[in-house]
Amino acid sequence: MAEELIINQSAGKQDRYNELLPQLSALTSGEPDLIANLSNIAAALKQAMNFFWVGFYLVKDHELVLGPFQGPIACTRIAFGKGVCGAAWQQKKVIIVPDVDAFPGHIACSSASKSEIVLPAFKNGEVFLVLDVDSDTINDFDAIDENALSKVMHMIELMV
Ligand code: SME
Repeated sequence: MAEELIINQSAGKQDRYNELLPQLSALTSGEPDLIANLSNIAAALKQAMNFFWVGFYLVKDHELVLGPFQGPIACTRIAFGKGVCGAAWQQKKVIIVPDVDAFPGHIACSSASKSEIVLPAFKNGEVFLVLDVDSDTINDFDAIDENALSKVMHMIELMV
């Protein structure tokens, strides 16, 4: 396992994702424990992309329960269909919210959060966790984030 991430912080986000993805793969290869890998993925995403909040919610007993994350403290449980995370779980799709104040039912864990992207990961066709990334800037997520973070989700799907 690599000891530190090598990311050119002055590069654009596509370049930083390009640098990060192979390092995430190296960071998690050979480690079978999902929580250990999610923890390092959250830390690496935070460090490489400077996200305000980045973390996982895992499906447990018909709820989303907070998992490994980096950033301010967050809501611990989210019901099916509630908030952006619950909606991504229910709809089984990536949701990008350019302005959280305009999203009905958005769960404000932090008033500093302004835009958000949530991606589900699947096992046997069912969502088993979601990745939630929050920004303190409006309209901060686009197809570059969706494409790169979808590759991270695929990496996680191959771990379970
Ligand atoms: N905003 C999310 C809740 C999780 S926190 O932002 C970390 C939502 O609406 O699902």
